[in-house]
Amino acid sequence: MTSISVNTDLCIKCGKCTRVCPPHIFMQVDKGMPIRVVKADNCIVCGHCVDVCPKHAIEHSEIPYEKVHKIDYKAMPTAEQLMNLFHARRSNRTFTDRSLQERAVEQIIEAGYYAPTAVNNRQVHIKLINDEDTLRQVFEYVVDTFSEMALDMRVRGEESTDDGYFSAPMLEGLVKAAKRGKDPILRGTHNLLIFTSSHRMGLRDCQLAYQNASLMAQVLGISQVYMGYVCNAYENGDRQRLKDILGVEDEIQAVMALGIPSFVYTSYTER
Ligand SMILES: Cc1cc2nc3c(=O)[nH]c(=O)nc-3n(C[C@H](O)[C@H](O)[C@H](O)COP(=O)(O)O)c2cc1C
Repeated sequence: MTSISVNTDLCIKCGKCTRVCPPHIFMQVDKGMPIRVVKADNCIVCGHCVDVCPKHAIEHSEIPYEKVHKIDYKAMPTAEQLMNLFHARRSNRTFTDRSLQERAVEQIIEAGYYAPTAVNNRQVHIKLINDEDTLRQVFEYVVDTFSEMALDMRVRGEESTDDGYFSAPMLEGLVKAAKRGKDPILRGTHNLLIFTSSHRMGLRDCQLAYQNASLMAQVLGISQVYMGYVCNAYENGDRQRLKDILGVEDEIQAVMALGIPSFVYTSYTER
């Protein structure tokens, strides 16, 4: 059970905790009055109260003091630097066979985990797949699913999906290319990051985690590409088969291909 208390020796009654707490656990009847903890059981362990308190007066059973760190606002990237990163971030598909450094992969995954999650559910899981046999099985899964989808569309006499995203000829083209030894699906990657969550907001949570991770990859000189084909195959195919291949239990919400690119882009186009 979560226990939260306010150390009255340290508290300066500024009331910041009452203003930031999402489930309104802190109460202050009036300015300058003592802070009371009213519904600790509703705490979502987001850490806002602890992080905002200028005097470290909040004692929280789930947030030990050693896990709380000062923010260095002077070390923030400038708006220009951040925009430079957004400009530079590209889905660079020119993956090489060079291996990724373990530390870099850890940093990319850690960046993903720092993304916010709905009601701070923290139910996003990020798994690295870099075993060639598993990657081959993922590839085959997508090819099989796309073949079935194309056949289904032909049988039903549909030329394309309602939104036009997939058409039977396009799916057949991907399958044919794959059978000729090309890889229009995984783009020759040796590393996939699988973002999973079964939470009601899991899809949103995973997309935010993905974006954090993709920006970290970019600053580390690692290229990433969103594996939309894999996600679509999962949504339309035998979901359990892909979960078994990947060894995941939760729903697959996003898939990132990672690798060292053959070269970097020298320009960006306005959009
Ligand atoms: C949801 C989503 C799905 C995508 N699926 C694929 C995919 O299956 N294969 C691929 O090569 N690129 C895929 N992409 C990459 C897009 O083609 C790419 O983001 C877009 O062309 C813009 O280029 P940029 O990312 O370099 O700015 C996907 C991107 C998004 C956001």
